[in-house]
Amino acid sequence: MPLLPLALIRLLAPLLRPLRALAARGWLVEAELDAVLAWLHPAWRLNRVFARVEGREWVGDDLLALRLRCNGNARGWRAGQHVQLYLCLDGVRHGRSYSLTRVADAGVIELGIRRQPGGRLSNALLERAEVGQVLELGQAQGELRWPRQGAGVGLLAAGSGITALLGLLREALAQGYAAPVQLLHYVREAGQRAYRDELLGLMQRYPNLRVHWQLTGQGGERLRPEHLAPMHGFDLLACGPAGFVATLRECWDGGLQHEAFSPLPRSAEPGGAVRLEFVRSRVQASGDSARSLLEQAEAAGLRPAHGCRQGICAGCTCTLLGGAVRDLRSGATLAEPGQAIRPCVSAPLGDVRVDL
Ligand code: FES
Repeated sequence: MPLLPLALIRLLAPLLRPLRALAARGWLVEAELDAVLAWLHPAWRLNRVFARVEGREWVGDDLLALRLRCNGNARGWRAGQHVQLYLCLDGVRHGRSYSLTRVADAGVIELGIRRQPGGRLSNALLERAEVGQVLELGQAQGELRWPRQGAGVGLLAAGSGITALLGLLREALAQGYAAPVQLLHYVREAGQRAYRDELLGLMQRYPNLRVHWQLTGQGGERLRPEHLAPMHGFDLLACGPAGFVATLRECWDGGLQHEAFSPLPRSAEPGGAVRLEFVRSRVQASGDSARSLLEQAEAAGLRPAHGCRQGICAGCTCTLLGGAVRDLRSGATLAEPGQAIRPCVSAPLGDVRVDL
């Protein structure tokens, strides 16, 4: 039983500012302060975001809406962004990125968690996350915003991509957005039409909203240019696997914001032997210039924090201390000491030192 209620620690969060300043200068040890705060309430920390599970609801055959209330450390979060969620499973810390489908008052947020074949963290959350449990989150990231320039807004989602768009849609309608909105959601089977009841209710309440579902399983149609015809002149927001987003980019030349959540193609280059130094862990290892630093750190016995492993969530970000790395997505070289890199999509170019 916590010694203080969560509502009170949210109120007290601004009062920790002087302690944060002292910890940032190294005059206080954040981990020691966190231990005291956690003793008062399991969700209280100096800087890190922890949240209590307040509710869970299945909104599709394979998608769970998880409602959480954060401590006072969530900074400037918006619907449409995504956060990293961390869970320790069998002693190993796992992280994964989830979209914020709602950001409400008093620190209440909602995430959409989809069952994934082999998805350890998502499946553990679906089975085990209970009301009252406290979970750790990262700070929110992401640039998707509701567009206001076009004749209307087209929302295109594939699978769990709906979770990145739903929060923006909810907010825009509640704030009185009156231009036409077309939502087109591609799912394999009818049971995967997540949030269907809510979306049907929104259509009744807001006559400017039209929602369509496109079933893609068993020979159903995937995204085709003619599906976009009713959105002529609209600005589009899209989220889905990389192939879905790539197809959309090929057949749409108007305003488009998009996010992809599946692995991006990597440039393949032969890898020579290199020396790796993981400074914080005091580990040195032999490596190569083909695999990502994250893979090679894990092979050396480290367990760095990470999430998507695709360069999207920033959950693995660390500092390059020496040497150079190659961005496996773009081929760009990063070689500035002190530069932030994403080890999951960075391969060493020669010997490197990183703050891991
Ligand atoms: S693990 Fe998500 S960016 Fe590296």
